Amino acid sequence: MKQFITFEGIDGSGKSTISKLICDKLKSEGYDVVLTYEPTDTEIGKYVQKCIKTKTDPFVTAFTFIADRMQHCKQIKKWLDEEKIILCDRYAESTYSYQGAQLENQINDPIKWLQELSENRILIPDRTFLFVIQPKESLARIQKRDELIPFERVSFLEKVQNNYLKISKDKRFLKIDATRKIDELVDICYKDILSQSL
Ligand code: TMP
Repeated sequence: MKQFITFEGIDGSGKSTISKLICDKLKSEGYDVVLTYEPTDTEIGKYVQKCIKTKTDPFVTAFTFIADRMQHCKQIKKWLDEEKIILCDRYAESTYSYQGAQLENQINDPIKWLQELSENRILIPDRTFLFVIQPKESLARIQKRDELIPFERVSFLEKVQNNYLKISKDKRFLKIDATRKIDELVDICYKDILSQSL
């Protein structure tokens, strides 16, 4: 089975809901599982949360997300050594896709630059589920939230989604139609986690 699993997708794609349900299901079947997320709740993570609510320089935002992840990886490594299953709601592909979109007109090939900064400094997941949904539809799902952050605009999320699709060619990625019913999505991911094949 797979041990380190990440959940990716644009805001409102449902990955947080699905990862929680999968965590509950794995726990109820007796698996030792941890559900974690990025940005984290550490001091760096809290600073990142501030960055995304305000108009912080996108380079500062990018470096801080990567720093938060590098620190998070130390904890993930410990859980892996304890043979836990780790479900992580957002990880490296969020930085490549979101900060890749933010830095689009600032440097040449921002995704490659962000990937190179991270290379050999972070862990590679065994499986990454990418929840795909049209930005208009995902935004309609989250309109009722108290406060929308500046990233939550159709034009920006379209760029983010394109980046996600561009970088998810490896067999580690499983693209999933996020408009399917919740129990179907949980079932697809659950079965995939328990199987060895990619
Ligand atoms: P959340 O809604 O999943 O809690 O994530 C908060 C926001 O942070 C979301 O709009 C995506 C953004 N984000 C990035 O821009 N880069 C990253 O590396 C991560 C982990 C999140």
